[in-house]
Amino acid sequence: VKRTALPHDLEGRRVVISAGGTREPMDPVRYLGNRSSGRQGYALARVAAHRGAHVTLVSAHTADLVEPSGVRVVHAGTAERMRSLMLAESEGADVVVMAAAVADFRPVDRPDHKVKKTDRDPDPLQLTRNPDILAELVETREAGRLDAEVIVGFAAETGDPDTTVLEHGRTKLTRKRCDLLVVNAVGDGAAFEVEDNAGWLLGADGVEHPIPHGSKSHLASALWDAVSGQFARNET
Ligand code: CTP
Ligand code: CA
Repeated sequence: VKRTALPHDLEGRRVVISAGGTREPMDPVRYLGNRSSGRQGYALARVAAHRGAHVTLVSAHTADLVEPSGVRVVHAGTAERMRSLMLAESEGADVVVMAAAVADFRPVDRPDHKVKKTDRDPDPLQLTRNPDILAELVETREAGRLDAEVIVGFAAETGDPDTTVLEHGRTKLTRKRCDLLVVNAVGDGAAFEVEDNAGWLLGADGVEHPIPHGSKSHLASALWDAVSGQFARNET
């Protein structure tokens, strides 16, 4: 028998996690995308499964990651597809985590043929807003149609002259109305396409935990500790 130091505090809990980056098609061969590797979402899924949860991973595009064992994986390439899968899969879930990098916009037109180069300059690319999946999950719960005890968002932020990363994170938590927000400081190569993260874990109850530099598995453990703490408080 393999011995493990991991707690089994998520035993029987149903967890749905989105991961990776969506790609919004411009034509059959081109897309608008982002550089998310999916590693953080996959680490969350792996750690939750090890701690006893039933995990569904709604995966967008990743850096060819291996599907974690003991995890149900469904694939969502675009923001719209991810929206419908997240709403469907979240039914009956205890925890929903939006770790995916969802494209904020998508091209308005999607011709079914490859767009050809001509002698003229191209028309400007017209974009439209994608649905905000996290906001919709929170609204669905507020409308009484989702039972999830904990809804988690992620935010990759850079500071600017007026506002720190932490301040951007606090504003986003207020705007998104989720229960927990993981704020990652990005820029200078941090967080995107690398193994390490550092940031804050912000709770809707005002509790703020710094997340020290460490692996994505460490961040995953810290998040599941916070979630299982929330479960314990909800039970009392
Ligand atoms: N998110 C989402 N649907 C979108 C965009 C974002 O569900 N269309 C989720 C992300 O998965 C993440 C959280 O919302 O959990 C925050 O994403 P972020 O891009 O930081 O926030 P935005 O509201 O899009 O604001 P901005 O990009 O302007 O910072
Ligand atoms: Ca965004």
